Amino acid sequence: MTPESTPDPESGCPRHELLYGPGFAADPAAAYRRMRQAGPTAPVELSPGVRATLVTGYDAALHVLRSPEKFSKDSRRWRDMADGTVPADSPVAPMMAYRPNALLTDGPEHRRLREAITDSLGGVEPSALRGYVGQSADTLIDRIALDGEADLLGAYARPLPLLVLNQLFGCPPEYGDRLVEGMAGIFELVDAEKANELLTRTVGDLIALKRETPGKDVTSRLIAHPARLTDEELVHTLVLLMGAGTEPEQNLIANSLRLLLSDDRFAGSLSGGSLPVEDALDEVLWTDPPMANYGVHFPVHDVVYEGTLLKEGHPVVISFAAANTDPALVVDQRTGNRAHLAWSAGPHSCPAQGAARLIAAVAIEKLLDRLPDMELAVPVGDLEWRQGPFHRALAALPVRFQPVAVTRSEEDERPAGDGGSTGPGRHASAPPGGRRSAPVATAPKSRWARLLAWWWGE
Ligand code: HEM
Repeated sequence: MTPESTPDPESGCPRHELLYGPGFAADPAAAYRRMRQAGPTAPVELSPGVRATLVTGYDAALHVLRSPEKFSKDSRRWRDMADGTVPADSPVAPMMAYRPNALLTDGPEHRRLREAITDSLGGVEPSALRGYVGQSADTLIDRIALDGEADLLGAYARPLPLLVLNQLFGCPPEYGDRLVEGMAGIFELVDAEKANELLTRTVGDLIALKRETPGKDVTSRLIAHPARLTDEELVHTLVLLMGAGTEPEQNLIANSLRLLLSDDRFAGSLSGGSLPVEDALDEVLWTDPPMANYGVHFPVHDVVYEGTLLKEGHPVVISFAAANTDPALVVDQRTGNRAHLAWSAGPHSCPAQGAARLIAAVAIEKLLDRLPDMELAVPVGDLEWRQGPFHRALAALPVRFQPVAVTRSEEDERPAGDGGSTGPGRHASAPPGGRRSAPVATAPKSRWARLLAWWWGE
């Protein structure tokens, strides 16, 4: 028995592989290997006492994802939640308990909610998005450029998607702090219930604001969509979009940077001009997908799959990470091969794949362009991964580099808003001999609030 699995009370043999705790975070591949020995599905615990079946085989994953008539996404079918075995305040509840959004509904209801999302996101011009990412990247790089060292997770990969989403959703800066705090808590299962409450309240405030003063943003488009989402549906749709758009996005950026900075196959080309960013993204989406285990389904009746009983109402979780690395899958060439399941598959596959990839690619290109000699500040093996059953997420990504000049004068740092100017700022030198002074904050605001206020020119 390993410490990562619970014993069967009768036989003493390992039964439920634990997808929480430091052991799994440090080496999920070992857990997937152990589980594969039992076949394409295996019993797991997502958090203490929360049991599920994990699908580790690629074919089995596709089977579940593409059989909505057998496997529902509606977690009101979750028996252990309905009978109180899993309490409503369980740390996994914010990621799994029912709410009226596209992720957790089936059939016509799902199509209606998803269409509102795809139409509203579809109003975002790729060139404008590219501009927002470029501007956000410059803003963040300027803050570290003179330091010669940084934690790229906290200083870059984490704030960048939020800055971009704030633009896309027309979100005022004072909400930024609350959104970040809420989303981090939910994914790390740290006081997840409170974090979820914070996130929901903030999004409710945003909807009220946009009802009063609509703009050219995703929130206003969602409110005005012919699908006529109720207030409750709007809140849960926006929480879904913000959760999906930030935590996985930061992890795609950070995991790809880790690969680019540590793998010899990429080493030569970083400084050589032809940046293999797309290759690194492909590789990470295959081997370290940001949503490692999710795609939660509930069998609508008992299903026997390859000899294993998947019981009605018992959660079946897809391991996108294990399925992608299934030894039965013959993948000669990962670069340019998009058959991985990092975006899931079937009716619930990620509707924002293009945008998500573009954000990560531009963010990484910009960073490598501005800090070309960047290197990891610790051996790659010393990097720590955050705990949690659902994500593949670094705890920090410390790097060092030669200090470089900041790009923009303070007046240039105010973005024009949705549909406004998206070009890069002017190149300006850093003040001689020193660090440029940080923007002045008035109240005792957190670092985040100050950054966002600065970003909005306040
Ligand atoms: C690197 C970034 C991203 C990754 C790896 C990712 C991955 C995924 C995956 C695996 C799913 C399926 C989840 C499930 O079936 O339970 C999903 C669904 C979804 N994603 Fe993404 N996503 C990313 C970025 C985004 C962004 C930027 C947005 C929008 C702002 C977004 C919006 C959604 C939505 C709305 C769904 C639910 C779709 C449905 O159920 O019909 N995602 N994403």
